[in-house]
Amino acid sequence: MCGIVAYIGKRDAYPILINGLKRLEYRGYDSAGVALLNENDELNVYKTKGKVSDLEKFTIAKDISGHIGIAHTRWATHGEPNDINAHPHLSRSGNIALIHNGIIENYLTIKKELENRGYVFKSSTDTEVLVNLIEDVMLTQKVDLFEATRIALNHVNGAYAIALIEKGHPDTLIAARKGSPMVIGIGKDEYFIASDATPIVGMTSQVVYIENEEVVKVKLGEEMKLKTIDDVEITPYIQELQLNLESIEKGGFEHFMLKEIYEQPTTVRDTMRGRLHADLGTITLGGIFDYEQKILNARNIIIVACGTSWHAGLVGSYLIELYAGIRVKVEYASEFRYRNPVIFPDDVVIAISQSGETADTLAAIEIAKEKGATVLGICNVIGSSISRVTDAGVYTHAGPEIGVASTKAFTAQVAVLTMIAIHLAELNGHLPKSKIMELIHELDLIPEKIQTTLERSAIVKDIAAEMKECHNAIYLGRLQNFPVALEGALKLKEISYIHAEGYPAAEMKHGPIALIDKDMPVIFIATNKSTYEKVVSNVQEVKARHGKIISVVTEGDVLVKEMSDYVIEIPDTECTYAPLLATIPLQLLAYYIAVLRGCNVDQPRNLAKSVTVE
Ligand code: AGP
Repeated sequence: MCGIVAYIGKRDAYPILINGLKRLEYRGYDSAGVALLNENDELNVYKTKGKVSDLEKFTIAKDISGHIGIAHTRWATHGEPNDINAHPHLSRSGNIALIHNGIIENYLTIKKELENRGYVFKSSTDTEVLVNLIEDVMLTQKVDLFEATRIALNHVNGAYAIALIEKGHPDTLIAARKGSPMVIGIGKDEYFIASDATPIVGMTSQVVYIENEEVVKVKLGEEMKLKTIDDVEITPYIQELQLNLESIEKGGFEHFMLKEIYEQPTTVRDTMRGRLHADLGTITLGGIFDYEQKILNARNIIIVACGTSWHAGLVGSYLIELYAGIRVKVEYASEFRYRNPVIFPDDVVIAISQSGETADTLAAIEIAKEKGATVLGICNVIGSSISRVTDAGVYTHAGPEIGVASTKAFTAQVAVLTMIAIHLAELNGHLPKSKIMELIHELDLIPEKIQTTLERSAIVKDIAAEMKECHNAIYLGRLQNFPVALEGALKLKEISYIHAEGYPAAEMKHGPIALIDKDMPVIFIATNKSTYEKVVSNVQEVKARHGKIISVVTEGDVLVKEMSDYVIEIPDTECTYAPLLATIPLQLLAYYIAVLRGCNVDQPRNLAKSVTVE
């Protein structure tokens, strides 16, 4: 997704802007640009296709002075990645520069109207249309940039997070958002604006999260001015930033993804802290306390999510039905939002999202709310859009997840869903207290068991060396290990570009077994106690067809181990907790294969960390 950074203050803007763009690189992009207003009121714009490092090379020996500027990393939506379509975009007069994250859905209509009035466009972007619409309003209605931006945004459909600077106003930044994220950092005589808090960490700890359809004016020496696009004044709510610098650096690991895989004992512990009380044998989830009865009495619980978060939701559905006896449906948010789903006012929808900004999930939430359902969120980014549009929710405390491939967010999401399932069972008595105590005590041991799993994963490197040239792979699991199979396959696909599929193990007989031969690696997640014999049969079926068998088994396993070419052992645990452990070696497997294949692990091709557009 695009990233925006803006600065105004006493320091040189350029280095702050460039560093901010580098902090946002994980969002995925294909071009970068910067606009600076110097002491002579010259508006210098530099933009290039490629990486931020290419932009830095491009600005060598150029005038990069100025204490106010805006900068952007673009993930192309309208118009191919090139220097012309890169942001910032200038208005016709050259007096206004604008950067934008989002999509203006009615930009063609606006463009036509402006062309009919003599405007000529250099790029094929919706953003260039927006900056000229704003200037047109400014000139025709004789208002300042703040007011012109507010008025213009009333004519705009779609999503935007924008920042603007204007010649003749070196002390003023204008910004606005709808649907795309934005946060403002308030320093001493300086302001920072960014798509999320990562560029602001280390600069200030005071932040304001801008709400949808709000426009802001920051002017040095004045209080921040915030209003809705309907011209209603808003008092900015200043919060303490939750991030620190160390948490967004690599910490000695080669890639953010590897760091985040190894953080999981800590992040799962952090996610359970203050919620899982092993000593008392209880769980408290303050974020949804007021909604417990609604959830218990829900006609249906519907989980909406995308990608890895959807896989976590699938694990959660098995646990909630098994422990609490409440029916759960798991839906792809992108399908849910368009199929006019049957939703009742007594349904409870749970939206799961690491970024809290995924467009499809946000849209699914709106549909559920329109139909009167209660909507809860499970997000990792504090203050994110989903965390603010849902009725209540439970944050995962995984810390910023920089690697595009989600890892620690998945286990944190599963930990939250596990606590919800157990807590519901506590409340409705669906499980005996003795079983509840057993589940809580075992869950309390999971962070240490994740650590043990990491320590036992040296064999994964050998398997990666064996698999690195493969063109396909199949992941198989049963019950709550089926979503683990899906997640393992997704990890391999998205960072090593090897085609992989996850299947319910029993489903093999209904077609996919035709794929099995000596060149097809088959990864079994064979930890279930309840269906172990069935999985053994599935392994035998693959063995008989000379498939290469890699198995994730519970320590002490004999049968599957004997039939496998490679075995990864995880500590014994409650069978429903297997996803929290079995996923770990599959994350590492995808990581090591991707590294051996020379892939860009943290920023895989074509991918974005947060899919904030459809
Ligand atoms: C997972 O590795 C992918 N990066 C992707 O599937 C991701 O899980 C999906 O886009 C959902 O993102 P969210 O959790 O931020 O909503």
